[in-house]
Amino acid sequence: MKFEYPINDAQEFSKFLASRRSTRDFIKDKPIPQNILDQLLADAMTAPSWSNTRPFTVAIATGEVKERISAEFLERWDALAQARNSGLKGKIRLLITRKGLPTSNRAMAKPYVNELKPRAQRVGKELYDVLGVTRGSKAERDAQWAKNYEFFGAPVELFIYIHKSLGIWSASDAGLMIENLMLSAHAHGLGACAQGAVGIWDDVVRKEFDVSGDYRLLTGLALGYPTDAAVNSFGAHRISADEITIKRK
Ligand SMILES: Cc1cc2nc3c(=O)[nH]c(=O)nc-3n(C[C@H](O)[C@H](O)[C@H](O)COP(=O)(O)O)c2cc1C
Repeated sequence: MKFEYPINDAQEFSKFLASRRSTRDFIKDKPIPQNILDQLLADAMTAPSWSNTRPFTVAIATGEVKERISAEFLERWDALAQARNSGLKGKIRLLITRKGLPTSNRAMAKPYVNELKPRAQRVGKELYDVLGVTRGSKAERDAQWAKNYEFFGAPVELFIYIHKSLGIWSASDAGLMIENLMLSAHAHGLGACAQGAVGIWDDVVRKEFDVSGDYRLLTGLALGYPTDAAVNSFGAHRISADEITIKRK
């Protein structure tokens, strides 16, 4: 028997995909019912995977555990931001105290290469415009970035780990799984935001969860119900498929 494709309207599906946006402001006191969270995770597991290995694990932080992680992240971010804004003296203090220094994914802070930089700059500028962040104000930018460490008020933060042995395939599989989860969240009226920002202090998460040493932290993912804040309607520019299509020689 032929396997049936249950969506009849492909155009509606395209519209649904296009309507997903990253959520950066969540309703704080609206938890995700357990059955809904279970469904999102079940949907995540229907993504394709390298030899069906599923080379990822997920730590689900809620309640007090999430609050403890957030408090420690915020302290570290504060120390890091202060050090970065206080010239050489600040950097020396950072190296001595080590408070705020990345403990994982250090490469994340590397500048973008020229080919990709304009795209990152564009989304940064347009997002900050919506948020009302004054151009050139480091303090306002830092305050906005700090919201990453409150998980934008989300009731659930996922920490997604990938198996070290499969290299790029682990990251690719986790990405597929994450997108399934985000789309399922969108279908259930929830919002989500992937958060590379939380990848730099993995030791904080490991203090709370029994994470295997074979795995490394890829990204966080904030999950919950979106508020009506303008930031949640922000439509990031999407480049056309033409721009990523490789030309014939
Ligand atoms: C792996 C990954 C990490 C991300 N990390 C962050 C982050 O730390 N903070 C943030 O606000 N957005 C983060 N984002 C969201 C992107 O900025 C967003 O997906 C992009 O601007 C496109 O916008 P859209 O998701 O609304 O289409 C991340 C996205 C991905 C895929």
